Amino acid sequence: MTDQAAIDFEAVHGARPSGVWAAPGRVNLIGEHTDYNDGFVLPIALPHTVKVTARRREDARVRLYSAQGDGTITELALDGLTPGVVTSWAAYPAGVFWALAEAGHAVGGADLFFDSDVPTGAGLSSSAALECATAAALNDLYGLGLSAPELALLAQRAENAFVGVPCGVMDQMASACCTDGTALFLDTRTLEQRHVPLDLEAAGFRLLVIDTRIKHDLGDGAYAALRAGCEHAAELLGLDALRDLPPADLTAALERLPDDLARLVRHVVTENRRVAETIEHLDGGRIAELGPILTAGHASLRDDFRVSCDETDLAVEAAVAAGALGARMTGGGFGGSVIALVATADVEAVSDAVWSAFGSAGFAAPVAFTAVPSAGARRLA
Ligand code: GLA
Repeated sequence: MTDQAAIDFEAVHGARPSGVWAAPGRVNLIGEHTDYNDGFVLPIALPHTVKVTARRREDARVRLYSAQGDGTITELALDGLTPGVVTSWAAYPAGVFWALAEAGHAVGGADLFFDSDVPTGAGLSSSAALECATAAALNDLYGLGLSAPELALLAQRAENAFVGVPCGVMDQMASACCTDGTALFLDTRTLEQRHVPLDLEAAGFRLLVIDTRIKHDLGDGAYAALRAGCEHAAELLGLDALRDLPPADLTAALERLPDDLARLVRHVVTENRRVAETIEHLDGGRIAELGPILTAGHASLRDDFRVSCDETDLAVEAAVAAGALGARMTGGGFGGSVIALVATADVEAVSDAVWSAFGSAGFAAPVAFTAVPSAGARRLA
């Protein structure tokens, strides 16, 4: 552990920490709003992480501090943790303690010090990173012996039931399970996963992430309404989940549904198909072929699922017009970030084009960086 991490921890918690853990944010390459439909996703972990320095406490109390917070410690009693009692950022880590206890794991108190460079509200899964960092730390501090997918499911449980956001499992699985240099191809029904090598640089490409700075928020009801719409459509079609609708039956199924549900179903079915096509191209080493698939995915999210916004639409349009092979919003939507697949030589031209398009439209300047597929949750020291 770096001396600085230990000094910072000790200044807040008054004792030496026992270790440092990190869990990353993510971008999703393709497979959006498919996870709560039992479908397929293909995220990569970012180099940006939530780091947590931690130690056990023997008095069943939880003390949470964030370097990005307001300078106060949130102190909670383990036996007082119930959904609804914590409403700040601290609900994410507190929810993990709660979910572990609810699942019968012998977890005690702890002091935690968080320090994050995952942009928040940018659709890059800062919440999942916070949950997974906490889960990884508690797993080691209390010798729970849980696997990465088990930790991801507990983190999702924390977010669903303790924080109250009905998210799918993609973000937590990405944050817990990704590996360096690969994308995570995940079947969200069976949780079967495959680490698909993704060496963009060697192939002469970059994945540009453009944070529109429009804060997205899944807790405002729109996400829950979309999820409920998909579940209702599946029920009307007599399916367990929309994943079970074969593409060949799509046209007939759409005729049986009201327009607002038909749009959702068309997106989910075509999006699962786009994940499959992406995997075929990656396996065949045809990275350039991903471009049109990404852009088609964006059109589907914009026109059918209707979760894009003017800023993400403009970022996609400007990136593609400036030579990106393809681009799409990534994550839940309603703001957040766009990814663009760009030939290495064109990275600057594409970023400049998006930046000036935002200026001309009167939008706040976006922030761009290049994403390198990185490792999932791990112990650092
Ligand atoms: C958010 C949720 C995920 C997933 C995406 C959309 O990131 O947390 O579970 O549903 O939106 O693909």
